[in-house]
Amino acid sequence: MIIKKAIIPVAGFGTRLLPATKSIPKAMLPVVDKPVIHYLVEEAIFSGIEEIAIVIGADQKEINDYFERSVELEKHLIKIGRLDLLEAIEKISGMAKISYVKQDYPRGLGHAILCAKDFIGQDEVFAVLLGDDIIYSLKNPCLLQMINSYNECKGNIIGAMYIADELISLHGIIKGTKLSDGLIKVEDLVEKPDLKEAPSNLAVMGRYIIHSEVFDILEKTEPGKGGEIQLTDALKTLCKVQEFFAYTFEGVRYDVGNTLGYMIANTDFALEQKEIGKDYKKYLIDLFNKHSQ
Ligand code: G1P
Repeated sequence: MIIKKAIIPVAGFGTRLLPATKSIPKAMLPVVDKPVIHYLVEEAIFSGIEEIAIVIGADQKEINDYFERSVELEKHLIKIGRLDLLEAIEKISGMAKISYVKQDYPRGLGHAILCAKDFIGQDEVFAVLLGDDIIYSLKNPCLLQMINSYNECKGNIIGAMYIADELISLHGIIKGTKLSDGLIKVEDLVEKPDLKEAPSNLAVMGRYIIHSEVFDILEKTEPGKGGEIQLTDALKTLCKVQEFFAYTFEGVRYDVGNTLGYMIANTDFALEQKEIGKDYKKYLIDLFNKHSQ
């Protein structure tokens, strides 16, 4: 099966980034000069995805506006001769075929994915990219690595990473058997366990390739951790009946859903930027020297 569709759920309240996210969806917070959602859509497109459903909250319209054309702004840029900026914003509106699915109330990641059921057909395989996770891998986007791996193993795949003990209770954790470099056969999954109950240090990161059978399971999935309908719980059921793998991708993952991760992402991306990278590096070195005196 060819993977052409992706779901990007971004409807959460963004509680960890309040008050900034009180009136701005967290996926619209900028990392240097682009909102988080831009990085995710870009990764999907660079991985061969053609259609994207973004699951948004009941009143969110900012993301929709971002990917729409802005005729007034375009006219203004022509008037002031900034054709470079014109090209940049035109690129955004032509990025992909994007549709929007409303999740009236954030009832969990599993529920958000279920909201996009009609966007995915019967017997399809689709991708999920979580709004909190930017994964930087310049030459080979994370999702593309996973799609390549899917083309070989033909099973469901979770993007995974080994994490430190203190981060375990914040992630879905995988029990599995290593098959080869990067590929693990998943035997069980547990959402945000206490350290002593965790089956390993291998954590679910915000990338998935899933068979559409998951929707039937999600419909029957009861609220789990935090009283929310958890995707991990549905995948735990799916891994008992279908081939299921974890893939330890190459790349740097930023959890931009919390303040420290968000600041680290901004620093790293600013250092990579053509226009400001050099000056910003100099500033950071001066700052470091000043504080270490
Ligand atoms: C979600 C998933 C969790 C996963 C994490 C990765 O949790 O439920 O299994 O490890 O994303 O970012 P959230 O961070 O949305 O609470």
